[in-house]
Amino acid sequence: MVEVVLEKVSRKFGGFVAVDDVDLAVRRGEFVTLLGASGCGKTTTLRMVAGLERATSGRISIDGEIVEDAERNIHAPAERRRLGMVFQSYAIWPHMSVFGNVAYPLQIRRRPKAEIATKVAAALRLVEMDRFVDRPATALSGGQQQRVAIARALVFEPTVLLLDEPLSNLDARLRAQTGDEFRALQKRLNIATLYVTHDQSEAMALSDRVVVMHGGRALQIGPPEDLYRRPASAAVASFFGAPNLLAARVTACQRDGDCFRLSLDGETWSGGGCAARDFAVGEPALAIVRPENIRWGDAPSGAAVWKGEVQASVFRGATRSLHIATASGLLRVEAPALASFAVGAQTQFWTGEEGVWVVPPDHASGS
Ligand SMILES: Nc1ncnc2c1ncn2[C@@H]1O[C@H](COP(=O)(O)OP(=O)(O)O)[C@@H](O)[C@H]1O
Ligand SMILES: [Mg+2]
Repeated sequence: MVEVVLEKVSRKFGGFVAVDDVDLAVRRGEFVTLLGASGCGKTTTLRMVAGLERATSGRISIDGEIVEDAERNIHAPAERRRLGMVFQSYAIWPHMSVFGNVAYPLQIRRRPKAEIATKVAAALRLVEMDRFVDRPATALSGGQQQRVAIARALVFEPTVLLLDEPLSNLDARLRAQTGDEFRALQKRLNIATLYVTHDQSEAMALSDRVVVMHGGRALQIGPPEDLYRRPASAAVASFFGAPNLLAARVTACQRDGDCFRLSLDGETWSGGGCAARDFAVGEPALAIVRPENIRWGDAPSGAAVWKGEVQASVFRGATRSLHIATASGLLRVEAPALASFAVGAQTQFWTGEEGVWVVPPDHASGS
């Protein structure tokens, strides 16, 4: 069952296109994240789903009902859409108790007292905050305050939950913990969730699918592992970590199941790789090589090999980040922390076909 559908949704501010032709469907129980740098149109997209912003073209449906259709001038107001919302700026009200905060949306709609008590208790139980019902909001940790904000969003029993950078005010440790709690709660409620963040590791850890946004457009939509391992472009690949991007030319290409196996000639190297699309022999391409997929020492035959000098070696605890100066330029390598590399040492690095993902050069991919 599909809960939220966006069809060719755009939003212009004057001549500026903030959201550009976005298509997306969020299924019941699915956690979908809009990921992108500041200003790429995430909040505007969420606000259009919420009914707080009008689309200038396209259509939005929630639970099978059209709530927004720019061409037919349909715009259901926010309060008529069955949504729960948690925004970064929507801190809870400090002068109220936990109960007061969660009850507020029902009180202003003049719901009967008994109904309010039942619904608030149920919402607080969902986020495991029922024992704090009488606490003043200020006597809660940041993570607990966010759970109260979620309870307030859930008190209407919405079919869809919208969250805009809800963790960005928390410190790193609490952010990870609260994120995990969100995810568990969302799975328990089986509620369609549209989440916004600029943090790629948060997006990967929480989401069933991620929408990579850039300049108002959805560049690619897919499960986190697909986006990481099979990005459609260098732009998408670069959202997740800092991959090596190496110019190459295709010397052979053959279909193999749902992917293509290629032979590549780089500037000073050659080797195999895989791609999601067909390439012509002689066609220029970009080889994406993740730093953690690079090995060192003797290479098996057929591997892509780079010789170079260790320019920098940064110990990061779990890993060691290396910068290698090669004839093809700088190569980033992520090695286990226990491996030792002396700065200035000459070493051979390599990766097999499974470590090379091939996409069209940037200008050809349109991003
Ligand atoms: N009301 C508005 N008027 C004019 N420009 C806006 C308005 N709201 C957002 N924008 C612009 O639209 C772009 C996308 O904004 P936003 O959706 O807030 O991005 P994000 O949430 O990804 O950081 C930005 O360039 C922003 O300045
Ligand atoms: Mg925003």
